[in-house]
Amino acid sequence: MDERIITNKELKTDTFETTLRPDSIDEYIGQTDVKENIKVFIEAAKMRDETLDHVLLYGPPGLGKTTLAYIIANEMNSNIKTVSGPAIEKSGDLAAILSSLEIGDILFIDEIHRIPRFIEEILYSALEDFTLDIIVGSESSTRNIKINLPPFTLVGATTRAGDLSSPLRDRFGIVAKLNYYTNDELLQIIKRTSRVLNIEIVEEAARELAGRSRGTPRIANRLFKRVRDFAIVMGNGSIDKKITIEALERLKVDKLGLDDTDYQLIKAIIDRFNGGPVGIEAVASSIGEEVTTILDVYEPYLLQIGFLKRTPRGRMVTEKAYEHLNIVSPNKLF
Ligand SMILES: Nc1ncnc2c1ncn2[C@@H]1O[C@H](COP(=O)(O)OP(=O)(O)OP(=O)(O)O)[C@@H](O)[C@H]1O
Ligand SMILES: [Mg+2]
Repeated sequence: MDERIITNKELKTDTFETTLRPDSIDEYIGQTDVKENIKVFIEAAKMRDETLDHVLLYGPPGLGKTTLAYIIANEMNSNIKTVSGPAIEKSGDLAAILSSLEIGDILFIDEIHRIPRFIEEILYSALEDFTLDIIVGSESSTRNIKINLPPFTLVGATTRAGDLSSPLRDRFGIVAKLNYYTNDELLQIIKRTSRVLNIEIVEEAARELAGRSRGTPRIANRLFKRVRDFAIVMGNGSIDKKITIEALERLKVDKLGLDDTDYQLIKAIIDRFNGGPVGIEAVASSIGEEVTTILDVYEPYLLQIGFLKRTPRGRMVTEKAYEHLNIVSPNKLF
């Protein structure tokens, strides 16, 4: 398993995540537009005494999709049942989950893009008119039966909205994209973490951490935890700027939150493909990473900070990246 510090995937060691998860929408920092809209929809649903429309949350890992799903359930005073797309292997799995729902329940399906298509179809009628169409019997005598489901809300989460079939996507009344957080928002998250864990951090140190968290709360919290370890061993337990910088250097997380893999990736494009354009598969195999890891974890942030750009012929390294890596760009030689 990938135990790299800047990965935005959830790691085995992230059990503290549950402790750090805000419970109410007002404690949820950032994502202002999404938050304000969802607040209105929740309010309206409550006023009409109806269930909330189905919600699709998408965006890179670690930005708070699961957190928001739980907050929605809290705010609706609903029970939440959680299941992960890849765990649904047979139509019966999904049918069983759906028929166990009670009125007003929230069904949270994480990684919803990974439900196999032929199973996904069961969801269409379940979402649209709360019915479950299933085929029973054996090959010789099958029949369709229709079961009524209680009204419920599906909250789906995915890192890849593009991988969702359009019939499924169309059945969500609320579609919300989570974006990378600003440094100020990350600063607030780090301060909150410091309060919840009861570990002091000076403002400057918190800013330093925020700047190196790749716009991702999960990474901010993980860096906080690692820096705290250094502070306990090397200092008096409270986190100051000096310890923070030293810890981050030891962890090999640079000023912008880039790590070895980001460097390898950019350098591979520069050295082996003349700065691009190059296809993602070629880059992945040249640095020995999975294409999906590059697509979900590395590339989105490098695109966001303008170090890579997408062209119809593949990815290209930008001037900004050459400068950050202190490499003279071929375009600047003349
Ligand atoms: N808006 C927020 N305010 C405060 N903390 C947050 C916020 N969003 C996320 N976090 C923190 O970041 C952690 C990771 O968030 P979460 O697990 O919800 O991400 P995710 O989008 O579901 O990731 P994945 O795609 O890997 O499932 C949470 O445990 C929480 O501590
Ligand atoms: Mg999640």
